Amino acid sequence: MPEETLSHPYLLSSEDLNYDDILKIFKKAKYFMDNIQSVKKFDDLKGVTVGLAFFESSTRTKLSFELSAKRLSADVFSFQSSSSSLSKGESLLDTLRTIEAMEVQVFIVRHQNSGVPVFLQKNTSGIVINAGDGKHEHPTQALLDAFTLHRRFKKIDGLKVCIIGDILHSRVARSNVNTLKTLGAELAFCSPGTLLPRELNVWNVNIIDELDDAVDWADVVMVLRLQRERMDSGLIPSVKEFSKYYGITFKHFTKKPELVLLHPGPVNYGIELDYLLSSYPNVLIQTQVKHGVFIRMALLSLLAKNLGH
Ligand code: CP
Repeated sequence: MPEETLSHPYLLSSEDLNYDDILKIFKKAKYFMDNIQSVKKFDDLKGVTVGLAFFESSTRTKLSFELSAKRLSADVFSFQSSSSSLSKGESLLDTLRTIEAMEVQVFIVRHQNSGVPVFLQKNTSGIVINAGDGKHEHPTQALLDAFTLHRRFKKIDGLKVCIIGDILHSRVARSNVNTLKTLGAELAFCSPGTLLPRELNVWNVNIIDELDDAVDWADVVMVLRLQRERMDSGLIPSVKEFSKYYGITFKHFTKKPELVLLHPGPVNYGIELDYLLSSYPNVLIQTQVKHGVFIRMALLSLLAKNLGH
């Protein structure tokens, strides 16, 4: 295998990436970050057509994939599911084949149903990248989160990361557990019992009941919003009560000023996080967004080697 490729020619799940893959992506992301001001536009994807197929809303992921592909000189187009022939009864598979006939080679897919990127990869010779599928996975979010921690702490091995909030409905939590464990982090969850995954033994992470104890334990807290669009029923007594017991405020940073906070966004300020913390130096939300572009450039560049680029 050439040195510059990854172990799989697609990215459907965080489990597709081993330790070496992740470090290759980090190295390439750093290269792009260090050189973007002088080079502006790279030609890694010149002649490659990238389709953004987002069947569910997105700001960060969609825009950063679009920008990343354009900075690598790809031809990029965006498929709008709401105004497509899906509404006339065309199937997902026929939609894929239609797009593929236009010689699209890379499909970046977000879908509300778990497993759609895997299904599409089985039916195309192109490259599928999972940009978030249902409650299943969001592997590029985990990569950019881990890259942010790697740059901040220099190494992730032994780092204590506590994921707080709605873990049950979170694809970000699932991908981060895999990626951060691969890099040697120690993981914990802090959440109401009703928002913890049922199969906790599979996840094999520590459980910390009280938020104050979680903050004491952790080097990093990764805060998640309540994903009410994925909840079937009321799993918490009230949003106000969730915020009281699981919301991060200045009090936590006063107690532990060195604490680092990540949040994948979008943030529901006033619920899981106090708005006054949005510009606090150890709250790295904007850094995560910035790193997302370089991580996605790195991923696209490395995967495009499989297309002969
Ligand atoms: N973090 C994340 O996936 O954000 P978007 O839904 O805005 O893409």
